[in-house]
Amino acid sequence: LEAFFQPKLLAGKRVLVTAGPTWEAVDAVRGITNRSSGKMGYAVARAALEAGAKVTLITGPTALKPPRGAHVIPVVSAQEMLNAVNAEVGEADIFISVAAVADYYVLNPSEQKIKKDAHILTLELAPNPDILANVTSRANPPFCVGFAAESENLYEFAELKRRRKNLPLLAANLVTEAVGGDESRLTLFDDNGVHALAPGPKLTLARQLIRHIATLYAATHS
Ligand code: CTP
Ligand code: CA
Repeated sequence: LEAFFQPKLLAGKRVLVTAGPTWEAVDAVRGITNRSSGKMGYAVARAALEAGAKVTLITGPTALKPPRGAHVIPVVSAQEMLNAVNAEVGEADIFISVAAVADYYVLNPSEQKIKKDAHILTLELAPNPDILANVTSRANPPFCVGFAAESENLYEFAELKRRRKNLPLLAANLVTEAVGGDESRLTLFDDNGVHALAPGPKLTLARQLIRHIATLYAATHS
């Protein structure tokens, strides 16, 4: 059985993964968040562990059990996720940004629960920091992998996003095919072009992604 997992493609490498949604408080009980189960990010963390990596998993709120062997750092908001990533990323060889980070946070959240009434409630939203862009603009960034969730124009939007974020590799999926379930479909975008993976279980896709990352990483770090 051991032989099945040989060679360990990422033996000795330190991999940092973000997963799940972030949650931005409106008041003491309410918040705004993104649709994300965390399943893809946890599968990526597990596949990296299988490949022999030391894995740190920074996760927003999910209902999942983390993979055994991962160093898990739970966070809630995008700002907390950014702080955790900044604290860990200096140690990382590879950063895989799977989290569905909320693009906005609520200005002046109420410490007490807001009582409902019949009127329209207006919230002011301010942009969150882009965690992945923060990492890629560091002086000595790790090998960075982005994810893209799109609802339309997957190929065009994903490649634009990859170039805008200056990423060697981006994995894109359609929201309708990816969110919530145990299966998904991933399309990989890198400098060599587009690689469509067969749809299947998220763990299978995660293993293929880790294999692809290991190949690109080895080509640029030998
Ligand atoms: N990401 C991040 N921090 C944010 C927003 C996104 O680190 N504040 C990362 C995600 O983890 C993902 C990549 O950036 O790896 C792309 O996220 P996505 O939401 O698809 O793209 P955005 O750049 O946020 O653009 P938009 O949501 O408008 O499509
Ligand atoms: Ca976004």
